[in-house]
Amino acid sequence: MLLFREKIPADWLPKVLANLAALLVDHAHLERKAATTALNLEKYRDLYSRVEELNAIAIEELQHFQLVLGLLKRRGIPFSQPYPSSWVSGLMKSVRNGQRHQAIDHLICCALIEGRSCEKFQILATELKAIDPELARFYAGLVESEGNHYATYLLMARAIDEVETNRRMEFYLDLDAKLIREPNPVPMLH
Ligand SMILES: [Fe+2]
Ligand SMILES: [Fe+2]
Repeated sequence: MLLFREKIPADWLPKVLANLAALLVDHAHLERKAATTALNLEKYRDLYSRVEELNAIAIEELQHFQLVLGLLKRRGIPFSQPYPSSWVSGLMKSVRNGQRHQAIDHLICCALIEGRSCEKFQILATELKAIDPELARFYAGLVESEGNHYATYLLMARAIDEVETNRRMEFYLDLDAKLIREPNPVPMLH
């Protein structure tokens, strides 16, 4: 289902496994931002008819946020400040202006963020099994939902303009491949 052109760098997994507390705080912020992003998409004219679907995604992301906060609390990890992601900001910097173009680009960026999350949650679900079974189950439980968000955002973009979405997807898949190769020593999801 996922179309990525570049593998997740080999140093990502050992980096996050070595600092699960930092990963969880970053993950909490990712879910918080995913909820607000779903609501932000409702500003586009082309998505007015999808407002209830977007609300449903926002509610689901908020529930994920609550789940991560619950994990933080049980593990005595304080909720603290988020790390800035140069991968996310690199994608978002390329969102064009103008209602329709902006909506399509924004949806594609959201789809790629959801897709990369889905991919990374899948890796964590497997790799954490022996180290931290509770966390492994937690990540396994999120894979389907984030995969659905990836597909929903992509389908929403295609419903606005399929040809333009496919054309921009080419651009964004190359951009993702370039950005993901940039070194990042911080133990964060993206
Ligand atoms: Fe989520
Ligand atoms: Fe999501």
